[in-house]
Amino acid sequence: MRLIYLSHSCFLLETGTHRLLIDPFLSGNPRAPIKPEAVKCDFILISHGHGDHLGDAVAIAKRNNATIISNYEIATFCGKQGAKTHAQHIGGSHDFPFGRVKLTIAHHGSGYQTDDGFLYLGNPVGFLITTGGKTIYHAGDTGLFMDMQLIGQMNRIDVALLPIGDNFTMGIDDAVKAVEFLKPQVAIPMHYKTFDMIDVDPHEFARKAFAIGARVEVLDIGKSFEF
Ligand code: NI
Ligand code: MN
Repeated sequence: MRLIYLSHSCFLLETGTHRLLIDPFLSGNPRAPIKPEAVKCDFILISHGHGDHLGDAVAIAKRNNATIISNYEIATFCGKQGAKTHAQHIGGSHDFPFGRVKLTIAHHGSGYQTDDGFLYLGNPVGFLITTGGKTIYHAGDTGLFMDMQLIGQMNRIDVALLPIGDNFTMGIDDAVKAVEFLKPQVAIPMHYKTFDMIDVDPHEFARKAFAIGARVEVLDIGKSFEF
């Protein structure tokens, strides 16, 4: 299993048979290591409707004939633009050829910005992805929530992808508490440094998590983590 960090909250998960792209914000992202035209994948997971997560999903999905997995509102929105989609909602799981995806809660917004306001794109979500005997939790954009304890109790999480940038999501101290709740084998920080407003030090997160006995991998952009 290989997880490649494509900056911000975007990861490519290679299972050996499938390629899952999560939150593909590449166009307009100053830290993106790859152009959307260069991405190959067969599934795309979108956590919520904000531009730095929905990003290039529709274009990449159509070019790859990939299936978009998201909440019902985002799946419908992308489907109307010609993408193949699979709609789920919070608490629901579904079996795909690569494994299982469950949508979790996330405390955030999900409006899609248009010229005259916001289009409602449902509730923001996180993802529990079980594939090849491993479980990956991508928290999406969220504040800390107590149910992370439940997620940690009910799942043996191998890798937890957690926002740490503060202002729009959890900051470092709340993300350390999330690690305490989730008990992952490894936590990988995301959603930091892309904009000045979220310019925090991921190594501070690593140090503070280490102090409570947890392991953090700070992934450089474009680098991969094997597990
Ligand atoms: Ni957001
Ligand atoms: Mn965001």
